[in-house]
Order: sequence, then C-alpha cells, then structure tokens
Amino acid sequence: MPFFYPYTGIMNSRVAMPLPVRVTSVSAVLLLACASLWGQNAIGKGKVTDLYNNNCASCHGADLEGGLGGPLVGDNWDYVKDYDGMAAYIAEGNIKMGMPPFGETLSPKEIRSLVIFIREKNSQLEKQQMQDALKTEEEGVFQAGGYRFRVEDVVTDLKTPWSVAFLPDGRMLINEKRGTVRIAQKDGTLSPAIEGTPKVWDHGQGGLLEVALHPDYADNGWVYLGYNEYSGKHNGEDWGMTKVVRGKIKDGQWVDEEVIFEVPPEYHSGSGVHFGTRFVFKDGYLFFPIGERGRQDFAQDLDKPNGKVYRIYDDGRIPEDNPFADKSEAFKGIWSYGHRNPQGLDLHPVTGDIWEAEHGPRGGDEVNLIERGKNYGWPVITYGMNYNGTPITEKTSAPGMEQPKHYWVPSIAVCGIDFYEGDLFPDWKNNLFAGGLASQELHRLVIEDGKVVKDEIIVKGLGRVRDVASAPDGSLMLVLNGPDKIVRLVPVRDR
Ligand code: HEC
Repeated sequence: MPFFYPYTGIMNSRVAMPLPVRVTSVSAVLLLACASLWGQNAIGKGKVTDLYNNNCASCHGADLEGGLGGPLVGDNWDYVKDYDGMAAYIAEGNIKMGMPPFGETLSPKEIRSLVIFIREKNSQLEKQQMQDALKTEEEGVFQAGGYRFRVEDVVTDLKTPWSVAFLPDGRMLINEKRGTVRIAQKDGTLSPAIEGTPKVWDHGQGGLLEVALHPDYADNGWVYLGYNEYSGKHNGEDWGMTKVVRGKIKDGQWVDEEVIFEVPPEYHSGSGVHFGTRFVFKDGYLFFPIGERGRQDFAQDLDKPNGKVYRIYDDGRIPEDNPFADKSEAFKGIWSYGHRNPQGLDLHPVTGDIWEAEHGPRGGDEVNLIERGKNYGWPVITYGMNYNGTPITEKTSAPGMEQPKHYWVPSIAVCGIDFYEGDLFPDWKNNLFAGGLASQELHRLVIEDGKVVKDEIIVKGLGRVRDVASAPDGSLMLVLNGPDKIVRLVPVRDR
C-alpha cells in the first residue's frame, strides 16, 4: 500500500525528528522575515494550491507531509485541535514554535480557503482508510453500518435516471434526465416511455428531474414532475427555468396536465446550473427547492425566485400564511432562502421535520433542517470555496443565518437524500441516507435530537448516486448514473 507507507512514516518521523522546538529569538526573527517574503508572493485572489505552495509548502511539505513544520495531515495535531481554531492559528502563528503569523500577508478569505484545503486533504486520507474497512473477504458482499449486504441490479438499460416513484401495484416510475418517464415492472422490465409528457430542456444540469406521487395517489392518480422548461430566446440566448406540473398516466399517456408552479419568463435564464429540485408532500402542502441558477447574489433576494425552498398547496395555490406573503416584492411561495442548489429533500418519519441537502461550492455541501422563513446563508456564509480554489468568504456563520446540520469537506456533490423506513435493515431505521455524485458514495447519517451524530460511508465506487429511496420491498434503492441503473441493497443473512 504505497499510499500509506509515507503517511505512517511521516507520523513516526514527526516524533523522532528534531523539530525546531526551541527556536531562538534570532531564528524567530529570520522566520518572520521569511514569512513576509512568502507573503508578498501571495496575490490577493490567489488559488488555494498557489497559496499553499507559495506560503506553506516550504515548511509543511508539498503533500502536507511535514518538514520543518509538522505534517498537516493525520490525527495528531499539536496546536490546532479542531478546524474551528485553525484559521486563527494561521493568522496569529506560533512564533515560539517556528510557525510564522500570516494574518498580515494573507486575507481572512485566503486563510479560510487554506483551512478548507487542509481539511480536504485530511478527509481524503480518512476515506482511504474507511474504504479498506469496507472490504470483505467474500466477493460482492459489502460490510458497513453493522450489516453484510449485497447490491443487486433492479432496473438497467436506462439513460441518466434522475428519480423514482413507487406505484401502489409494485411498478416503478423512473424519470430520465433527457425527458422520458419510464415504467418498470416488478421484475425490472421497462415499458416504452410515457407519451405526451411535458417537453423538457435537457441543458447542463437541467432536464427532467423529480417525479413523485401525491400522497392520495391511489384515489386521485396525480403524478408530479419537476423539470427544466425551455422558454424561448431572450436577446439571442436560449432560456429556461425549473417548473412543476402534475398530470395522470392513462394507458401509457400523460393526460390532464396542470401547471403547479412556474415563474414569469423574465426570471428564466440561459444558465445550465442549479435547477434543484425534489418534492416533499406534507399536510396538503408541496415543498420543493429551486437552485440559484448560477446567480449567487439572488439567493438572498426575496424578490428573485432563485435559491429558495417553496411551500405551496399541492394544487399550486400559494398559502396566505407563508412567511413572506405580506412583503409586496417577494415571491409569495418562498418558505426559506439563501440556498445554493438543493437536490435532496425528505420528511423525517418521526418528527415530520423537512431535511434538505444542497450542493455547496468546493468543501461546502450541506445538510439543513428547513424551517419557516429562515435564511440558510448562501453566499454570505459557507464552509466552502470556489471550485478553482479561490476564496468566497471567510465567514462560516453570521447572525440571522442558519448553520447546516452537517457539511462535507471535501464536497461529495450531495444529491438525493432519504430517511430509511424499510424493514430489511432495522438498525438503519430513520437514518438519513445521502448520495454523492462526484464522490460516488452513499452516506448514512445518524440523527439524534435534531443533530447529526454520525456520518458513515456505506458504499463507494458503484457509480454517481443521483437519488436514494426506501423501497416498498424494505430495501434501500439507489439511482445511479454511470453505470445508469437502479440497484438495491439487501442484507446477507448468515448461514
Ligand atoms: C517557516 C516555516 C513554516 C511556514 C512557512 C508555515 N508553517 Fe505552519 N508551522 C510551522 C511550525 C514549525 C509549526 C509548529 C510545529 C509543528 O506543527 O510541528 C507550524 C504549525 C502549523 C499548524 C498547526 C499544526 C498542529 O499540529 O496543530 C498549522 C495548521 C499550520 N502550521 C499551517 C500553516 C499554513 C496554512 C501555512 C501557510 C500559510 C504555514 N503553516 C506555513 C512552520 C511553518
């Protein structure tokens, strides 16, 4: 295991190596002089790798493995016990121990992005270790979360499946991003696409997204779809926006369509990013998010539809007691704001709380508990930085803005989430499962008293996890992209 050898080696050498523990006042002055030289290399909007290479690598090593300064990966920190205190430590330095202060040469934003960078590197190491722990001796059997389980194909032959809904008769509705709604029989065989479904615009991250059944589907037959609708050319550019409709499926046809939610065309855009969306039904209401469509600043504006979670009646009417109903400029459907791109939403089976997961920037993916009228902070506060490594803000908290219940550094590209309600894995009941696209991981979050007390990787590397669903057969199903299929986790009983 070449990866681990240097890691362990460093940890040992750290103990054995005569580090500059006693720095004389002369060398402290030298260090300070050097620090300000390094500092001058750091240009205001530097990318984090440049920041690290120019300011830190000479002492902490190109791979954070340590040198003159200790390693910045591993678990035996000497001075910074948690990441909260790390930015302050880097700013103030520790002259006595030979760590120069960077507070005057690097901006708070830059220091913040260095903390994210260090954290990313540490998390990558931890994940490598976790991966090894997941391996079992038996082919095709996984071991995690207290169970041994297999991953079985349920439906294959799909093209970028995005979401599933379970019909009462055991069949399954499957949305493919390109715009087709498929029906899979219990045995996994697929019917031709439903005819007459809305024309969607498969553009960037947009396309046919969420599918869900009305809670009284057995009586009323309503199927809800969330998608990116093409709204024509504006100043020569193609525009689109997230839209919600409902309709019924009769003899393979989409009929009786009704528009449930759309925003006026002037709020659409050509951006191919951050559309949301997922559906949650609760007490006659429909909750759903729309991402900020690449306009960070709009997430804080109540007069813009971007970056919000909405609450409307399930027939599309806007409740008069919504939190911003009396603000003349506001979109009246808004329930919460300050969101980047939520693509996970589910109801806690016991408390009825609405939990959401949103794609943050690099190192800023979040899980939030969504409450009436609250501001979730994007882009004023975030735990992440820009994908190219430039900083966004040094602020991870601010008065009047909600903290996430959980966040991932590095980002996993969190997508669908689901509270497990099946019977096949009793110990997982009411745990929140979250799928990662980029990380190709399925995470199990244990929640106690509204707090995430555990985050564990259950599977990794099967494909990008687009959605997670408790299936009626008691299994946990995953909607995967690359390979494009639906699989289920089923426990392996000991013989
Ligand atoms: C002149 C050498 C030097 C440079 C440059 C330097 N450091 Fe350090 N750093 C040290 C020393 C020495 C220590 C304290 C001893 C140790 O951790 O082994 C330290 C400690 C730290 C710690 C605390 C580690 C712990 O164990 O708690 C962090 C975090 C840190 N440095 C980050 C940085 C960052 C980020 C940069 C670049 C902006 C940087 N350092 C640049 C020498 C340096």
